[in-house]
Amino acid sequence: MQRIVVVNPKGGSGKTTIATNLAGYLASRRQQPVLMDFDPQGSSTRWARKRHPTQGKVHLIAAHERDARVTLSFQLHPPSGTTHVVVDTPAAIPAQEMPKLTRTADKILVPVLPSDIDIHACSRCIRDLLLVAKVPRDQNRLGVIANRVRRNTLVYHSLMRFLESLGIPIVATIRDSQNYVRAAETGYGIHEMAGGLVREDLEAWEPLVQWLAQPAGAPPAAATGATSTAETAAATTAAPTSSAAATAADVGTRETEGAAAAATAAAEALMG
Ligand SMILES: Nc1ncnc2c1ncn2[C@@H]1O[C@H](COP(=O)(O)OP(=O)(O)O)[C@@H](O)[C@H]1O
Ligand SMILES: [Mg+2]
Repeated sequence: MQRIVVVNPKGGSGKTTIATNLAGYLASRRQQPVLMDFDPQGSSTRWARKRHPTQGKVHLIAAHERDARVTLSFQLHPPSGTTHVVVDTPAAIPAQEMPKLTRTADKILVPVLPSDIDIHACSRCIRDLLLVAKVPRDQNRLGVIANRVRRNTLVYHSLMRFLESLGIPIVATIRDSQNYVRAAETGYGIHEMAGGLVREDLEAWEPLVQWLAQPAGAPPAAATGATSTAETAAATTAAPTSSAAATAADVGTRETEGAAAAATAAAEALMG
């Protein structure tokens, strides 16, 4: 069973869109996905409840609606046979909640929009995932999704420069498309919608699906540039002052801190 957590404390970045469409995709592939909704706004819950019995089954766990009849761990327990748990998370989750949320995640997806505010928020989110949740960068668990992009806009190029500087794979670039709005309204995923209209959107999901299929721990195949700013900064920061004193753990921590600092610096340099 694979556990995929979609996270970004910035509201409106596309967490629910990614989580629901991923669940829809898995259901259309005859997998047995669970969609776990931790957001009190319940957008994923509403989507799942709109689904028709003839559609592929998405088992909903409305984690934000506490069921007093059972224990919490029972409520959150996926049914047997579950192949994937897709976790949708609320906006504004504090950094100290990140470790709990991501500890058991095989894959962590961070959707980000092309806007100055969202790029800054994303750099904070990545910093918290690396430093507070201590997600190792070399285990291929963390992927960024550029969402609602309009190519050939200045802010799109800013976003891509920022994402490339992170040294974290961009696992999908998803365009701004009414198909996602329609999917949200109807309880469908774009993979369950009629061919011609969604072809371009389906293509954008292929790298994402491939990345999810790569086992955690494998080196990131979709790495964004051999020597990104973040990598260089991490290497510089990680250079031990005294090799005797530098334990492997120390070096690991400094590499992560270097990468997180580089993420913040990259956002600041791009945005001014
Ligand atoms: N790629 C996209 N194209 C068009 N609309 C989108 C796209 N991604 C998200 N949206 C819309 O943007 C709004 C916010 O997205 P949502 O997934 O709910 O964000 P979050 O869960 O992070 O708050 C929703 O109305 C959603 O339908
Ligand atoms: Mg949401």
